[in-house]
Amino acid sequence: MTAEAAFGGAGSPAGPIPIVLDVDTGVDDACAVLLAARHPGLDLRAVTCVAGNAAVDQVVTNTLTVLDVAGRGDVPVARGVDRPLLEPARPARHVHGEDGMGDLEPAGWVTSTRSADPRHAVDLLRDVLLAAAEAGERVTLVPLAPMTNIALLLRTHPQVARGLERIVFMGGAALVGNATAAAEFNVWHDPESAAIVLDAAAGLGVPVTMYGLDVFYAPRVSRSRAADLMAAPSAVARLAGALIDFQCRRFAEDDATIGDAGAVCAVLDPGGLTTRRLPVRIELAGTWTRGQTVVDQRETGLDHAHDPHGLAPAVIDVALAVDGDRYARTWLATVGATPDAQPDEGSTARRSER
Ligand code: BDR
Ligand code: CA
Repeated sequence: MTAEAAFGGAGSPAGPIPIVLDVDTGVDDACAVLLAARHPGLDLRAVTCVAGNAAVDQVVTNTLTVLDVAGRGDVPVARGVDRPLLEPARPARHVHGEDGMGDLEPAGWVTSTRSADPRHAVDLLRDVLLAAAEAGERVTLVPLAPMTNIALLLRTHPQVARGLERIVFMGGAALVGNATAAAEFNVWHDPESAAIVLDAAAGLGVPVTMYGLDVFYAPRVSRSRAADLMAAPSAVARLAGALIDFQCRRFAEDDATIGDAGAVCAVLDPGGLTTRRLPVRIELAGTWTRGQTVVDQRETGLDHAHDPHGLAPAVIDVALAVDGDRYARTWLATVGATPDAQPDEGSTARRSER
C-alpha cells in the first residue's frame, strides 16, 4: 500500500501536489492547515493570511501555532491584507471564539512565538508562484478565506498565472447562505475581491473550483472520535480533536464539519466531489443578497439567449455533492495517524504539562 493509499486521498503519481493555502485561521482553517501540512500527497509551499474569521495579526499567530504543532516550521507564513477592499473587517467570534481558533490556549496550547515571513502575503504568493513557473511546475492555490489577498495578487501580478495549476476556493454556494440568508461568509466578507478573482481567473485562463456551502458541512467527525483524538499521544491528533470538540460544544451537536479541510481533500481526491461547470457571478449590490454567488444552473440555451445580462464570463467547476465520509476518513487518517511531530528549530508550540 502506498503512503497516499494509507492516508486516503489520491495525490499525484508524479509526486506530492504543490499547494499554497490562503487562510483566516479559523477553527476549520486550522483543520485544513493540519491536513495540508501532514498529508504525504501534498507539498505545502506557503500559507498566507488575511482578515476574516479574526483580525489578520491573530490569524498569523494562529496559523504559525498550527504549523508548529504539525512540525512544519519550514513553511513560510505571511501577513496579508487587514480588511476587505471596501468594507470594514467583521470577525466571526461567534463561530470561532475570541482568538479565532477555539480559545484553546487555556486548555494548554501554547501560542507560537515565531515570526512571520517579512514579505507581504501578496509578495510571498508572487514569489512562490513565479519560482514554480521557472521550475516548470504549477501550484494549486487554495483560498479558504475572504479573497482579498488573491484579488490583489491576480490584478498586480497577472504573470503568476504561469505558475498556477488551478484555484480551489472555499466560498459561496449554489443554494444556501450562512453569513446571511443569501451569502456565504468568505464571499460576503469581501464580495468585490471574490468578483475580481473570478474575473481575473477567467481572463488568465486559470481553472477554478468552488467548494461552497453545498458540500462544506458534509464531511463530519463525531464528538466521540474527537475525544479519542484528544487522548492520543500525538500533538497533531490532540489539536485536531480539540478543534472538532470545540465546534461540537459551540453548536451543541454530536459531530462537526472538517470545514475548510474539505477543500484540501478536493485537491487530493477530486473523485470524491461531484462538480458541474457553470457560469457564476457575484452579487455586488442587492438589499438582501450582497455577496451571493449567483450560480446559473439553467439547462436551456433559449433562456440564455433572452437573458438581458448575458452569460457570466466566469465558468467554473461548482461542487454540488461530496462523499463526506470519504473526505472525513482522509482527514482522520492524516491527523490521527501522524506520529508526534518533532517541532523544527524555532517552533515553540507544545502542550504544557499543567
Ligand atoms: C467559511 O467561513 C469561515 O467561517 C470558515 O473558516 C470557512 O472558510 C465558511 O463560510
Ligand atoms: Ca476559513
